[in-house]
Amino acid sequence: MKKIFSFILLIIFVGFVFGFTNTSLQEEEPAGKKIFIANKCVTCHSVKAEDLISNTKLKNVPDLSDVGTRRNADFIMKFITKKEKLNNKLHMIAFKGSDEDLQTLAKWLETLKPSEVK
Ligand code: HEC
Repeated sequence: MKKIFSFILLIIFVGFVFGFTNTSLQEEEPAGKKIFIANKCVTCHSVKAEDLISNTKLKNVPDLSDVGTRRNADFIMKFITKKEKLNNKLHMIAFKGSDEDLQTLAKWLETLKPSEVK
């Protein structure tokens, strides 16, 4: 009787550990990256370090893989809402999402520094 009981415990334990490792394997994309995709930033910008490839024909669109080394979140938020210029020009499009999404997106972009990217 005792043996059966420990056997059941073992099954539960193994099931738990397996289930746990299984969910942690399916890593979630960062929220900022989802917002980036949902707002079609990727139609113009590649972020090669994050496996995002744009097929735009525009020539002057920077890859944002290392944008965090050049810009901070504060600047990005102002720039993509057309409140701040870069090289004397406003960004081509204005971000249309919520303020919360704008912050999450800008903070994610700020983390894109080659030393921290994979
Ligand atoms: C229609 C094309 C287009 C779309 C869509 C677009 N961008 Fe841009 N973006 C540009 C261009 C062109 C530049 C370069 C501007 C310059 O250097 O004068 C730029 C520059 C930037 C920069 C500054 C990059 C640097 O090297 O400093 C950031 C940050 C940026 N975009 C973020 C975004 C985000 C976030 C989105 C989505 C909300 C987005 N862009 C959507 C065309 C686009």
